[in-house]
Amino acid sequence: MKHAVVILAAGTGTRMKSRLPKVLHPLLGKPMVAYAVEAAIESGAERVVVVVGHGAEAVQTALADYPVVFAHQAEQLGTAHALMQAEQALEGFEGRVLVTYGDTPLLSGQTLARLAGALEAREAGMVLLSLVLEDPTGYGRVLRGADGSVHAVVEEKDAGPEEKRVREVNSGVYAFDANLWAYLKEVRNHNASGEYYLTDLVQIYRAHGHRVVALEGEDPAELLGVNTRAHLAEVERILLERLRRAWMLRGVRMIQPETIYLEPTVELARDVTLWPGVILRGRTRIGEGSVVGAYSVLVDTVVEADAEVRGHTVAEGAVIRAGAGAGPFARLRPGAELEAGAHVGNFVEVKNARIGPGAKAGHLAYLGDAEVGEGANIGAGMITANYDGKRKHRTRIGKGAFIGSNAVLVAPVEVGDGALVGAGSVITQDVPAGALGVARGRQRNIEGYAERKRREE
Ligand code: UD1
Ligand code: CA
Repeated sequence: MKHAVVILAAGTGTRMKSRLPKVLHPLLGKPMVAYAVEAAIESGAERVVVVVGHGAEAVQTALADYPVVFAHQAEQLGTAHALMQAEQALEGFEGRVLVTYGDTPLLSGQTLARLAGALEAREAGMVLLSLVLEDPTGYGRVLRGADGSVHAVVEEKDAGPEEKRVREVNSGVYAFDANLWAYLKEVRNHNASGEYYLTDLVQIYRAHGHRVVALEGEDPAELLGVNTRAHLAEVERILLERLRRAWMLRGVRMIQPETIYLEPTVELARDVTLWPGVILRGRTRIGEGSVVGAYSVLVDTVVEADAEVRGHTVAEGAVIRAGAGAGPFARLRPGAELEAGAHVGNFVEVKNARIGPGAKAGHLAYLGDAEVGEGANIGAGMITANYDGKRKHRTRIGKGAFIGSNAVLVAPVEVGDGALVGAGSVITQDVPAGALGVARGRQRNIEGYAERKRREE
């Protein structure tokens, strides 16, 4: 039997205290609402409708790559009103309809599928997902009849003292049979909030002779709704814990795992070691046996096998090939590529530059828009002057070249294979292969100068 999923995501989310719409707050780099959409797809939904309102345009843009359609709720008149807006988007669809929220990111596709299946299995017109809580304050209470079926859900605001003692609460996730759209028209807003409550459908289904049943959620965490940034942090903590655990079970070593942040898009191989405080984001991939040192941040960066990224390295859009090394305190910017066995060390910045196999830049250098040949040695403090104020230019350093400390290579310029550059030189012309390029004031020593100076005083 087919089912559609409607995700309600029109709310303002004022308690987030943010200019960003609530459902766009990121969890591990992905907007909260995308988790709901992915669960809906995973449940086998034929169609997915997202009801947007507050920040509608931004929400639609964020979900542009997902196979969903949108419905608009201009005014937030309640959860039933929100669902009514989806009717048109589902025109011609005859199956069951599931309702979830854009702010319940831990709900799994499996639980949704289970809910849909319960309609037939339990011969019900409506199924709701419930939870038994120590403290049910704030939630709608599930009132069951003698046969165990659900007779009503009463909102906190409308509940009497007796009802408030009930600890089984409504999670707000439902499955309905195809009568939904007809019955939805019978919902009125005669209650303490003056809102159209989705929960009123319990009585309406019953009045039409259908059973309403509650399915108890297996994992209470799954139903955590995000209303504040504290909730957001709690959900992110749970997602991270699951992710780290999964990688550890696949052979990744994490030292003080609770301090490591990584996103679901990251890929790790066996025998990768991550030291405390490591942050791995986006399309980062780390190969077998590689080590990432403490407090390093890697974004969209590829590290091949047996490479070593030492502590406090910050890399974005970089490639570190097998056996290469970076850091501590290396800065790799987009287009940085360290070939096999290359090494860049302390306070070396690399941007749009290829560092050839076995080449080394140990300390305090800037290599921008450059090509460094195999086995070349870059002295401490060397920089490429790659920008003339208008355009960027390239620097080529040949195989086995040796660049002295504090040299400036003013691009475009080329240092040939095996050539040397004297320390402190400002190189504006090409240095031929095998030559020594020196460009600096000649040293002059004035004998006895210090003694003379002292006598004059
Ligand atoms: C709802 C349930 C309550 C349940 C609780 C679980 C109703 C009447 N009550 O209460 O029984 O225990 O969820 O969290 O359904 N939304 C819209 N448009 C609207 C109103 C809401 O899109 O006009 C969206 C909100 O963005 C939010 C979700 O629906 O994501 C839930 O709405 P909210 O007003 O927070 O319902 P609760 O009071 O939490
Ligand atoms: Ca809520």
